[in-house]
Amino acid sequence: MSQRKYNTKIAIDGPAGTGKSTVSREVSRRLKLKYLDTGAMYRAITLKFIREKADLSDLEAVKKILADTSIKLTDNQEVFLDGQKVTDEIRGAEVNKLVSPVSAISQVRRQMVDMQRAIAEESEGIVMEGRDIASKVMPDADFKFYLDASLVERARRRRNELKDKGVILSEDEVITEIKNRDSIDSRREDSPLTRVLDAIVIDTTELSFEAVVDKIIKRVSDRLSYQKAR
Ligand code: DC
Repeated sequence: MSQRKYNTKIAIDGPAGTGKSTVSREVSRRLKLKYLDTGAMYRAITLKFIREKADLSDLEAVKKILADTSIKLTDNQEVFLDGQKVTDEIRGAEVNKLVSPVSAISQVRRQMVDMQRAIAEESEGIVMEGRDIASKVMPDADFKFYLDASLVERARRRRNELKDKGVILSEDEVITEIKNRDSIDSRREDSPLTRVLDAIVIDTTELSFEAVVDKIIKRVSDRLSYQKAR
């Protein structure tokens, strides 16, 4: 494996449609760090619940499914559920609809958070993105970023993303979907979407993808070279 540039933990949180995944992936590539998309893990377990036609209010059934599920993410971002590749399927409409309610179940969160912490522990530096990374999964992260953008801009990006997949939705439909997800993700009792006090907030509304990546890399490089110089 190539030499990692920095041995550091970077948390990137924020709501859907802020460009978090694309930005985080590029930051990890440039800093030669491992990348973990925690949303993909919640999506994979959601797909399992869909396949099992699980009743989400039946705690025993939820626990049984959790105990009986394996989720693996490879370094090139393929997602495996019980040994089967589900990389594309977890981005589909069915999963989109159910992922927020599934992610609000405490038992689900506990299992995912434990896995995420174990992955961070065994990696030599990581860029981890999600909703509760700085607040819950890696409160000891060296860098905590929170990406945000206006609702209209987030909806515009989401619509373009869907259009690329051949799905045409009106602006209103997309805004409703995003609002719904924001509301469940931010209001759930167990580790909701959180902007921690020491997060570096970046409003990406009027920034290009490259500009956001550059901002993050600059903050990380500046601090690390300052620490080295002392
Ligand atoms: O980042 P994404 O849109 O792929 O995430 C899908 C859902 O997963 C999101 O609506 C909420 C949930 N999620 C979460 O609860 N905690 C995380 N750390 C990451 C995602």
